[in-house]
Amino acid sequence: MRQSCPAKINLHLRIAPADGSGFHPLLSWMCTIGLFDTLTIQRSTSGQIVFQCDDPSLPGDSTNLAVRAALAIQREMGEPKPGVELRLEKRIPIGGGLGGGSSDAAHVLLTLNQLWDLHWPIERLAGIAARLGSDVPFFVHGSSSVCTGRGEIVRPTLRPRPRWVVLILPGFATSTPAVYRKFDELRLGDRSSIENEPSWQQWAELSAGPLLSRLINDLETPAFALCPQLATLRANIEQLLGRVVRMSGSGSSLFTLYDSPAEARSAVDKIVDRCSVRVVAVESAPNWE
Ligand code: C5P
Repeated sequence: MRQSCPAKINLHLRIAPADGSGFHPLLSWMCTIGLFDTLTIQRSTSGQIVFQCDDPSLPGDSTNLAVRAALAIQREMGEPKPGVELRLEKRIPIGGGLGGGSSDAAHVLLTLNQLWDLHWPIERLAGIAARLGSDVPFFVHGSSSVCTGRGEIVRPTLRPRPRWVVLILPGFATSTPAVYRKFDELRLGDRSSIENEPSWQQWAELSAGPLLSRLINDLETPAFALCPQLATLRANIEQLLGRVVRMSGSGSSLFTLYDSPAEARSAVDKIVDRCSVRVVAVESAPNWE
């Protein structure tokens, strides 16, 4: 079975101070984007979980999130435990705030549910997903959702009206735990930012300019403090395009939104001309299935 595993962006990301467990309650509107890893899943008679990837920097052992997803399903099954071969073509940058590893893991859960004829309800898969990582439940549910808690409470919502995302991939990673530690050190965040939700339906109807002016990412301040070159890149691109540019997740990817593909393509050309970064125009919440 072949699966396209999309990346995501956090259109809006509000973070509260850490709770007793050290995790940060959040409120995020996330949507998938048209940038994909490809996962091929094949039965294996060995009872083993075998993982191969065209990116040698990804571990193939039980520290890999896709492998952990398969192990988590296996653990909840009776005997005999079936084996599986997972092959991943990695196209979503690692450490880019685009949820690639989480998407791969979620698609392992969804595909094994079919391949192994488990017929587990989506809620059960989402429960396993939540134990794997904060972004994994989003990918179990789909293309545009508001996520709360640590990310495990997922409410599907209308997708954003702007259909085009210009994605800036700076070519270096930012570490999620380090960005959260900096957030704590700077004593950022307040509970009211996650408790007072906007009208998502109204936001989903806004065109690119008005929507961008409302979007916030509370992790930009700590990420930019840790990585000043990212702050400079963002400022330069905002000036070049005359448009709001946001960071996705804990970085390092940046994005802006457009209503038409022609505008998005022209923005890509401008950035490529002036900055040495990878830039692509991709669809927001694409229908890829
Ligand atoms: O869940 P995920 O693997 O993305 O989290 C990576 C790290 O980021 C966690 O171990 C934690 O340090 C931090 N984190 C957090 N609060 C969140 C999500 C992540 O403190 N809501």
